[in-house]
Amino acid sequence: MKILAIETSCDDTCAAVLDDDKILSNVISSQTDLHSKWGGVVPDIAKRAHQERIMPVIETALNRARVKIESIEVIAVTIGPGLAIALGVGVNKAKELALKYKKKLIAVNHIEGHMLVNLAKNKNGNPKREIQFPSLALTVSGGHTKIVLVKRNKSPLHPPLTRGVKSVFDYEVVGETLDDAAGEALDKAAKLLGLGYPGGPVIERLSESNSVNNKSLLNLPKSLQDKNVLDYSFSGLKTSFYYQIKDWPKEKVSKNLANLAATIQEAVFEQLLRKYKLAIEKYKPKSLLCGGGVMANLTLRKRIRKLAKEVNLPIWLPFKKELNTDNAAMIGVAAYYKAKRREFVKEIEKLDRDPRAAL
Ligand code: KG4
Ligand code: ZN
Repeated sequence: MKILAIETSCDDTCAAVLDDDKILSNVISSQTDLHSKWGGVVPDIAKRAHQERIMPVIETALNRARVKIESIEVIAVTIGPGLAIALGVGVNKAKELALKYKKKLIAVNHIEGHMLVNLAKNKNGNPKREIQFPSLALTVSGGHTKIVLVKRNKSPLHPPLTRGVKSVFDYEVVGETLDDAAGEALDKAAKLLGLGYPGGPVIERLSESNSVNNKSLLNLPKSLQDKNVLDYSFSGLKTSFYYQIKDWPKEKVSKNLANLAATIQEAVFEQLLRKYKLAIEKYKPKSLLCGGGVMANLTLRKRIRKLAKEVNLPIWLPFKKELNTDNAAMIGVAAYYKAKRREFVKEIEKLDRDPRAAL
């Protein structure tokens, strides 16, 4: 089954072609250059860029996969959560193509994509993975931070849904951020340090540099110490970071840039791992599943692997760096599992974006 997947929930215009769960092409047109000078994503600019790029990106994805749109069986699209006007571009294009070419349409939750990307394979069918369920997922992005218990969905197949959104697996959100997302905390700290957008990659690069000699240069709070709470909170960290350096002269900031980057990264990762470990102890999953843009960070990946070893569980991370950050292949693989459950959109004309879509 050939799937064309579209993702425009934030600032990347993405399209991918899959053959079942195998990725044939995965095209990402990043808008970083358009937003970086603003220190974050500007919705109107994102919408316009998506509109300009969506068709060329889809055509490139089809060409690279050597698949004609006529041979596509299913069109898949992210319906949320995300930026409303950005999501609208992808949803409208998917509807237009599905109606024009008489294809089935599947709507996918963006966070479900970040988790199920771990089930994707390359065009040769690798890596071969047998993921053990229930699994405990940690998805960490610029827009969300969630710990999710992923169980196989034992409910019977249901008739096609008007809005087309129903879980492939059963998802139970057992912890999530109460305020900012982890990636957002890194992005905001980077903005404060004058490092542009997105902040995660540049903070990673500075944190790994030779000039780091103090990873706790500032005294940042360890939020939500209560061991019964599995939620996250990153806004206190961000505020404390801001107040401690706001009166520093520019030269002092630039002299300490690497230590400041390492300090905020350490604080964010400490909390990510502390709560994940508590959740693992409580829910006793059979495996761990990680995804989202922040999981592209090599230090975090190393620490998560170490944690998995400690708790003696298999861990699954996206097998390619570009599958961590936003992409359409993750939407395609989620759609493949939804297609198996015949979770097609019943009334294509009525499908609407859902910026606050819940899992
Ligand atoms: O999943 P994603 O592409 O978009 C959302 O769904 O939000 O994640 C983007 C986030 C941004 O906050 C970005 O700073 C962060 O992921 N990020 C990283 C790295 N690459 C991207 N954070 C830390 N280290 C990285 N290498
Ligand atoms: Zn994302």
